[in-house]
Amino acid sequence: MANFPLERFASIETPFYYYDMDLLRSTLSEAASVSGRYGYKVHYAVKANANSEILDEVRRAGLGVDCVSGNEIKAALRSGFDPSGIVFAGVGKTDREIVTALKAGISCFNVESAAELEVIDEVAGIMGVKADVAFRVNPNVNAHTHHYITTGLEENKFGIGLWELESIIAKAEQLPNVNLEGLHFHIGSQILEMGPFRELCNRINGIQKDLEARKIAIRSINVGGGLGIDYIRPDDNPVPDFESYFGTFAKYLELREGQELHFELGRALVAQCGTLITKVSYVKEGQHKKFAIVDAGMNDLIRPALYQAYHKIENLSSDGPEDRYDVVGPVCESSDCFGKEVQLPQTSRGDLLAIRSAGAYGQIMAMRYNLRDLAQAYYSL
Ligand code: LLP
Repeated sequence: MANFPLERFASIETPFYYYDMDLLRSTLSEAASVSGRYGYKVHYAVKANANSEILDEVRRAGLGVDCVSGNEIKAALRSGFDPSGIVFAGVGKTDREIVTALKAGISCFNVESAAELEVIDEVAGIMGVKADVAFRVNPNVNAHTHHYITTGLEENKFGIGLWELESIIAKAEQLPNVNLEGLHFHIGSQILEMGPFRELCNRINGIQKDLEARKIAIRSINVGGGLGIDYIRPDDNPVPDFESYFGTFAKYLELREGQELHFELGRALVAQCGTLITKVSYVKEGQHKKFAIVDAGMNDLIRPALYQAYHKIENLSSDGPEDRYDVVGPVCESSDCFGKEVQLPQTSRGDLLAIRSAGAYGQIMAMRYNLRDLAQAYYSL
């Protein structure tokens, strides 16, 4: 079990998010050093967690950011990120967000359709600037992850199909206010096997050859994010295997002379440092099972309800003999359940439970359903 400061926790109102900043720093520094060895550029996917304390550490580690809204761009600028390290993605950028990005002078728009390309060109023209763009190509690679977080298949709404790539490149060449900078890919999230990334590399190699035959030069490649983490054994594997991940691209992706390689990692950088701490309100004995009813709900951490995601749960207050509990929240939905048949030491009212690996897509996806208060964040020193 991780080392939590229980005396400090005793005076904090539950539920709350707790971030281990040492673990965050060591994860960021490992990612920065391995990617740096290959000369790769990593952009942190702000959507995973936009707390300013987290963004500050990311900036200090020397990474850029990947934003998917005007507000994420503003948050990154407030945290002092250099606009030249900001990429802007998203399938439905509004005109106002495009203006925000152009005003900020971000490095690149990841463009998802011909229609969007035209709008960016038009807005940039009105503002008298040129927009650097990368085309998000849908590589039709199966990431073998949960169907809600797989994005690189033809049936997903994301990206430009391979069949229309050449025509959209031709369009970009004609538009006066956009400058084609690169190609962008993202196949999905929580990917633990290197196979899908290898397949992505092979697909990109093929695309590059086709484009070369047409004398189209691409300055940069962005392969998105998606590296998964160990939700089952967070203490055994607190830092993801960045060696294998970046090494896979180094081995299989055929970069051209001077071509840059970019990444957009979210979960792998911040998931393990965050924990949702919640207090047991009641233990309820059903006919066949016991429920530990806690004061955190699906509104605080929606991943189990939305993706049937597993988060390790620990009792920080008890070391009695073990029993099985369904750990459920107070929200009026049956899906408000953090885990079924969870093996925990004898659990009673007032015990603190830790719901682990919640630093990514946890607090940021919180909502106020049932008019519940939002859980606050606390940080290790
Ligand atoms: N780049 C693009 C274009 C993306 O769509 C995403 C995530 C990332 C990068 C970062 O992916 P990561 O490295 O974190 O896997 N809420 C879900 C995950 C949604 C991911 C959306 N896109 C969850 O809780 O599992």
